[in-house]
Amino acid sequence: MGLLVGRGSQREVGLLGLERGMMHMIIHGDRSRWLHGSNGACIRTDPYPARALRLVLLGAPGAGKGTQAALIAERYGTCPLSTGDVFREAKRGPVATLDGAMKQAVELMAQGRLVPDETVVDLVRERGHCLLCNYGFILDGFPRTAWQAEALEDLLLERGRRLDAVLNYTLPRDIVIRRLSGRRTCADCKATYHLEDKPPAAPGKCDRCGGSLFQRSDDHPDAIAVRLQAYEESTAPLIAYYEDRQMLHNISADGAPSDVFARSRALLDSLADFAFA
Ligand code: AP5
Repeated sequence: MGLLVGRGSQREVGLLGLERGMMHMIIHGDRSRWLHGSNGACIRTDPYPARALRLVLLGAPGAGKGTQAALIAERYGTCPLSTGDVFREAKRGPVATLDGAMKQAVELMAQGRLVPDETVVDLVRERGHCLLCNYGFILDGFPRTAWQAEALEDLLLERGRRLDAVLNYTLPRDIVIRRLSGRRTCADCKATYHLEDKPPAAPGKCDRCGGSLFQRSDDHPDAIAVRLQAYEESTAPLIAYYEDRQMLHNISADGAPSDVFARSRALLDSLADFAFA
């Protein structure tokens, strides 16, 4: 998903000229690979997992969805896909290289407007074959509204698929604000760090790929307040939506990433028929 189309052998990876580190970044780290849309080539070559998990992650901005998505991807082989990362990445490049809903989304963002539900859903629909992928998917940032959630349900139904679970990461507001204020993101592979809780080994440099770290513009105090309000109004109602469908699993996002992941794993191991050592 997002990484699209066929699989090949390790040898083919060599032919594509991809280094090991790059493959790691693509599979586990770069949550914006979905950007490449329906014509992008899937360059994952690792074996499919025993079971393709299909997950949605919910939680306030800064609850740690992206952090958990990376850990889940690493353990279960599931593709992490973040609409937020995709939009940020798309904004960095020339609009001429984009098409369809992605182009429309970037043009709207350039005018300072929010991307409407219809455009976001079109964007996912254009990559709808990804919903069938044998690697599964972790949707982080989509759906973001009840309208998007209903559209996702339809997109999956049309393809004979359903979600396995919706993981809702819960965290007190003061900790959310602290996490967002200290977050730094890799410009290249999108790995996230925290200035105090998860600092990079070398200041300003990504441990994983050596890319430069930056502070997202929406992680400044004024923007954080706006995002938290938008979350309460538009996204928090999805908790009841998925609760009604008996898909919701609340997970405390308090504590170290590894502690939160241990809670995620307890749930996912019960869903995934894996025999991990
Ligand atoms: P998006 O990128 O999705 O932002 P978000 O939902 O606000 O989520 P974040 O990425 O900010 O937080 P996170 O929960 O992933 O936290 P993270 O793991 O990084 O969307 C951005 C924008 O794009 C939106 O505002 C919207 O405008 C637009 N958009 C996106 N999708 C859309 C859609 N579907 N429709 C319309 N518009 C859309 O962690 C945060 C920090 O905490 C990091 O520094 C991390 O290192 C640290 N941390 C994480 N876990 C822990 C822990 N356990 N202990 C200590 N520190 C931790």
